[in-house]
Amino acid sequence: MERVSILARARSALHLQRHQSLEAALRQVCEALHAQAEPRSILVSLQAAHEANGLSHAVITIVALVVNELATNAIKHAFEEGQPGKISVTIGRNTCGDIAVTVEDDGAPFPESAGSGDGLGLGLVRRLTASIGGLLLAPSNGSKAFELRVPVGKD
Ligand SMILES: Nc1ncnc2c1ncn2[C@@H]1O[C@H](COP(=O)(O)OP(=O)(O)O)[C@@H](O)[C@H]1O
Ligand SMILES: [Mg+2]
Repeated sequence: MERVSILARARSALHLQRHQSLEAALRQVCEALHAQAEPRSILVSLQAAHEANGLSHAVITIVALVVNELATNAIKHAFEEGQPGKISVTIGRNTCGDIAVTVEDDGAPFPESAGSGDGLGLGLVRRLTASIGGLLLAPSNGSKAFELRVPVGKD
């Protein structure tokens, strides 16, 4: 299947509109996840410290897919049945001007062996990130934060 058609399907699966900002797209992803998380007392929040302009629809769709997978992982793997918690998604910029999207939870530690991307989901996340020239920094030293760096204007 062509890349464009895969992205169109992903966009419609995530209910993203065509001309949406990154913030609006991630808000939609977080709201959809909130519906699953809220009955388990898991709070999903989004903070946008910076305007993230200059990203194409294709890049926004890929970032939304990555955030969807990372936050879904947090819902699935970080919290025991009945354990409340928080998942925060932030949009910022690092010193190089790249957009930095983080997904962090306050649940169970991240297993060291999982960072290499052996699982299907994290493997896909790594490939999606590479396809937009981005970089995925996995949690290290006991952190629970994934950071996705997205270069601006190189698409
Ligand atoms: N937020 C998280 N907290 C704790 N463990 C996690 C988290 N995200 C991923 N993991 C661990 O990483 C593994 C790999 O994730 P992934 O590649 O998405 O595969 P899957 O979700 O299908 O198990 C998970 O099975 C889990 O052990
Ligand atoms: Mg997964």
